[in-house]
Amino acid sequence: MEKLVVWQSPPLSGEVRVSGAKNAVLPILAATLLTDDPCTIEDAPDLRDVSTMMDLMEALGVKVERSGSTLRTRPTGQAGSEAPYDIVRTMRASITVLGPLLAKRGEATVSFPGGCTIGPRPVDIHIRGLRALGADIQVEEGYIVARSPKLRGNRLFLGGPFGSTVTGTANVLMAAVLAEGRTIIESAACEPEVVDLARFLVRMGARIRGVGSPRLEVEGVARLHGTTHRVIPDRIEAGTFLAAGAATGGEVTVRGIAPGMLTAAVEALREIGVKVEEGADYVRVSPNGGLRPTQVVTLPYPGFPTDLQAQFMALLCVSQGISVVTEKIYPERFVHVAELLRLRAQILREGPSAIVVGVPWLSGAPVMASDLRASAALVIAGLVARGRTDVKRVYHLDRGYERIEDKLRALGARIERQDDPEAP
Ligand code: EPU
Repeated sequence: MEKLVVWQSPPLSGEVRVSGAKNAVLPILAATLLTDDPCTIEDAPDLRDVSTMMDLMEALGVKVERSGSTLRTRPTGQAGSEAPYDIVRTMRASITVLGPLLAKRGEATVSFPGGCTIGPRPVDIHIRGLRALGADIQVEEGYIVARSPKLRGNRLFLGGPFGSTVTGTANVLMAAVLAEGRTIIESAACEPEVVDLARFLVRMGARIRGVGSPRLEVEGVARLHGTTHRVIPDRIEAGTFLAAGAATGGEVTVRGIAPGMLTAAVEALREIGVKVEEGADYVRVSPNGGLRPTQVVTLPYPGFPTDLQAQFMALLCVSQGISVVTEKIYPERFVHVAELLRLRAQILREGPSAIVVGVPWLSGAPVMASDLRASAALVIAGLVARGRTDVKRVYHLDRGYERIEDKLRALGARIERQDDPEAP
């Protein structure tokens, strides 16, 4: 196993380019199950989750080849329709094959995803939405077994106790595009990654109105054709570098990102006292006096993203004063708190909130990464902590950040990947 060794670093400085969005490319790969034609996907980040999805696609009869950041998909005609536990267990986004398999092949067997370190993650809304389109869905021996000779359009509602569902909207949308007649999806997720999927589907010949709004109107078509699509930039990777730049008091330009995707995070940075400049394809942070406390509440898009909560908490650990971070998407997503405490942070967990008392300095220590975004938070904390911080179990980071240590090193960070002989 590997770890990242992070030393206290000078203020980060320079420019970093973001990769394509992980959470856009995963459902887009699943959507290629909807056509018998090849597709080309550009700007696909080289991540462990993307390789896992490529393996799953192959098991389902779609060969995916990578050349640089371009993926080419080609149906092989050897069509399986089962997403096994071994794959779904390692990557929950595998659930996005459920809708397209059902719509294209009339059946799908997908392992029921279990819990994960960010808390319970049910799929009841996915199931409710697909049932509304006429699918027969049973849960048998740990698998979701879905069947439908022909899906039919319907009016359906995808809201839940924590807002809408991103992958649930993806699943229902991918099923609806081949269903007979009109589907109206109310309370659809509006995240840019869902918009990107919808645009990909439209390029394949799908008829979707209301893209980007919570009300999607889909007119089913008989078949979809192959296409070429460039994946949107990763707003969470961008926000992670902005938080790292701000925490170190550096001047960092994140290039290749549409600033409109990051409004809530940019607003939070300004409240923290960071100077933020935005251009057509970049966001730049630079220091503007000391870091101040703020209140962060995670919400569905365009609210503050839960996938940046941990990274901003690391930043608030060194912002003088008392900040409150409230999780409204995953109320249990606080595993990083205990690790940040090891770095001398002062944080009090209170239900779905964490009260962060900014300290003048953190102190490096060995810490354990528990999930993708928590790992990024520990790296940010490591950059400002005195001495050395070993972030263990770096495979979590590799799921969603492309060469993060290279990109950080290019900004002046003192960070390197090492074998971890002590890893369990
Ligand atoms: N929910 C339900 N029932 C459902 C589905 C969701 O109650 O059937 C709840 C969830 O438990 C949660 C909320 O609704 O409280 C939102 O969950 P959502 O379904 O939107 O999450 P997801 O689709 O499983 C995606 C991202 C996550 C990101 C969330 C929220 C992908 C592949 N994953 O997950 O990304 O945190 O949306 O924005 O798109 C990450 O990249 O690190 C990551 C975890």
